[in-house]
Amino acid sequence: MKLLVTGGAGYIGSVVVQQLLTEGHTVEVLDNLSTGHADSILDGAVWHEADLLQAGRILDSSFDGVVHLAARSLVGESVAHPERYWHGNIVATLALLDAMREAGVRRLVFSSTAAVYGEPAGASIAESDQTMPTNPYGASKLAIDHMLTAEAHAHGLAAISLRYFNVAGASGALRERHDPETHLIPNLLKVAAGQKESASIFGTDYPTEDGTAVRDYIHVLDLAEAHLRALKAAEPGTHEIYNLGTGTGTSVRQVIDAVRDVTGREVAAVEEPRRAGDPAVLVASGQRALQHLGWEPTRDVHQMVTDAWQALNPSTASDPTTPSTTPLTTPPATPSAGGPR
Ligand SMILES: NC(=O)c1ccc[n+]([C@@H]2O[C@H](COP(=O)([O-])OP(=O)(O)OC[C@H]3O[C@@H](n4cnc5c(N)ncnc54)[C@H](O)[C@@H]3O)[C@@H](O)[C@H]2O)c1
Repeated sequence: MKLLVTGGAGYIGSVVVQQLLTEGHTVEVLDNLSTGHADSILDGAVWHEADLLQAGRILDSSFDGVVHLAARSLVGESVAHPERYWHGNIVATLALLDAMREAGVRRLVFSSTAAVYGEPAGASIAESDQTMPTNPYGASKLAIDHMLTAEAHAHGLAAISLRYFNVAGASGALRERHDPETHLIPNLLKVAAGQKESASIFGTDYPTEDGTAVRDYIHVLDLAEAHLRALKAAEPGTHEIYNLGTGTGTSVRQVIDAVRDVTGREVAAVEEPRRAGDPAVLVASGQRALQHLGWEPTRDVHQMVTDAWQALNPSTASDPTTPSTTPLTTPPATPSAGGPR
């Protein structure tokens, strides 16, 4: 297939591009580098340095589909500046949908998020659960899910939304480089690498086994693979939604233990009060993705930490010879030296 990947210079997008190229697809990347990195755009992919609002200049009938990852995705920023999320996510995605309709490109896989569920009622979240986002970021993603349902019914789009839980790990050198970094594993690894004094544990009085919040961590390689399956599974006139998680919860303290174990280093963690709106437990039910996409994640938190540590700090990683569990049959495409092509 010939595919446009929006956000292909970002953390998850670059790994999706890597797997698409490895499978032999033709890939073009639309990315304005607002949070991405030029050196994450892989050789073999054509890069359009453009905003989503300019998608109409790039898309034409030669494309078979779009993988749409480009977004603003900082919860705190979305609370302080909601308008950035209505413009950057909702308006920008509407422009992309208009451009796709105009060009006759009728296949889309969209990066949605567990944040659409808000404070879940049960421990294991299914796609049919109530959606009640607690911040504009989650609300903007939910609005796009609604847009896709309507677009599929009215105009025949084949659409799939993938609601990611907590993504972690790395693929070779392709790793999380968010600024600010709000995610637990990269922050703990920065402490282990001596790049940061300590990491925070937000809340130690949750009704969980060790009192810290429990999340469902999913390896970026497993996550990327779901996009390839979704591209093939999307059916004209339908919009399907799948949660992507492992179904297994890991507490903050368990993640810290994994980081200490993998790095062999002490990791200072400071206990702080709970953050407003942070639920005790967020774990996906992966049943639907397994049934309909045949997708099942295979990598655990230890593997995520090992791969992310190696990507951050290859010379001092405790075991750089750890064999990769990447289920790729041909060598993955490598990051380019960067710069526009
Ligand atoms: N990382 C996670 O744990 C997680 C969890 C749930 C959902 N998501 C979603 O996954 C997607 C990718 O997340 P990520 O962690 O890789 O983020 P990222 O910031 O690393 O990547 C986003 C990419 O999109 C580009 N971009 C943003 N707005 C753009 C615009 N208007 N026009 C063109 N390019 C634009 C950025 O430059 C960046 O390269 C996002 O949609 C995010 O909401 C991520």
